Amino acid sequence: MIAQSEYLARREAVLAQMSANSLCILFSASEQTRSNDTEYLFRQNSDFFYLTGFNEPQAALVLIKQADNSTQSILFCRAKDKLAEIWNGRRIGPEAAKELFNLSSAYPVGELATQLVELLNGKTAVYWLQGESQLNDETVFSAILAVRQKGKFASAPTQFFDLRCIIHELRLIKSESELAVMQKAADISCDAHIRAMKSSAAGKYEYQLEADILHEFAYQGARFAAYNSIVAGGDNACILHYTENCDELKAGELVLIDAGCELNGYAADITRTFPVNGRFSKEQAQLYQLVLDAQQAALDSFKPGQTLSAATQIAVNVITQGLIDLGILTGTLEQNTQAQGDNPPAYRQFFMHGLSHWLGIDVHDVGAYKINDQDRPLTPGMVITVEPGLYIAKDIDNVEPKWRGIGIRIEDNIVITESGYTNLTQAAPKTISAIEQLMAG
Ligand code: GLY
Ligand code: MN
Ligand code: MN
Repeated sequence: MIAQSEYLARREAVLAQMSANSLCILFSASEQTRSNDTEYLFRQNSDFFYLTGFNEPQAALVLIKQADNSTQSILFCRAKDKLAEIWNGRRIGPEAAKELFNLSSAYPVGELATQLVELLNGKTAVYWLQGESQLNDETVFSAILAVRQKGKFASAPTQFFDLRCIIHELRLIKSESELAVMQKAADISCDAHIRAMKSSAAGKYEYQLEADILHEFAYQGARFAAYNSIVAGGDNACILHYTENCDELKAGELVLIDAGCELNGYAADITRTFPVNGRFSKEQAQLYQLVLDAQQAALDSFKPGQTLSAATQIAVNVITQGLIDLGILTGTLEQNTQAQGDNPPAYRQFFMHGLSHWLGIDVHDVGAYKINDQDRPLTPGMVITVEPGLYIAKDIDNVEPKWRGIGIRIEDNIVITESGYTNLTQAAPKTISAIEQLMAG
């Protein structure tokens, strides 16, 4: 769990970067209809969550930095309501929220529109997540317009900043307590992959392995998957975002599972690929080892100062050279890794996605990948995935039939440390022998 003192420190870090005499506003997520009058389970807006830990819809956080640099954090949230709470669940209410969440003050959300006009009057600058939601933009612009309409003694802000520049940079570097939560999310997700490996058998359906994964998540206290789980048997693994999970698993085929839980708001993102029946065929093992070698080569390079594009190139070179050695590609490493005229490099037929992305509250977490259009050097506290893959479609005609219909991805989650990196997801087996041994047992 993240302590309330840490949420307070995050708000202070945002306030420290705001100009004097400014206001910042963040809005909670809204409930989303699934069917008729039934909603999806609520998931908080990631930025709002990062600054509050408050997990209700219909809320807004206002941060104020006065001209003398004194600050306030104000929450607007749903008022207590006996009848609504009988039907739809408990609400914290402004009074309790003020104490529980270390706020300067808290008010019923019904007061937001009018109070915002007063709070904005006289401020120079406003920060919010511009364009994230039309409704939220309208709330901000309507309040600014109302200040302008107040007459000559009122003064509306004239500087409008996108809050992303501040908050997404803060989110990119994880604290010790965030890393502890992410390690736990990773541990649960590793257990889920192990459960699915043990449960796998020909004749089962992809959704049954998905059920194993979700069971383990929920049973260990992580009720939500961080993203829709991919359970892809055979050549379904060549569909990168396959989520139908409806086909029967067949003996002799591989199954690719890309699944991670969300725990206390933080995501894990793990992929393992294993034989449905627990034994790799010769061709499957050759391709699998290639992906594993590419992942290891990239992993070995991670330390502060490394860039994601340099690490990607390392993985690309291993995969491409391996494909040449297996006779799947012809020509030199350079010929296969360089664009040929308008055509992408040849290796991209088989490895067509990136190696890494930031990981955190969002599975594809926030933060700039480039600074001044240059690849950003990695620094301690960044969490990334490392996920090379190899996908040889069933209907590809320039590859020998024995390689076709095989999709492999291996994905781990690592933290950049002072001396290199720590692998959060090493508990999920990934060597050929470790997988075969687990599945045999
Ligand atoms: N699970 C989504 C991804 O690996 O990026
Ligand atoms: Mn990923
Ligand atoms: Mn993934």
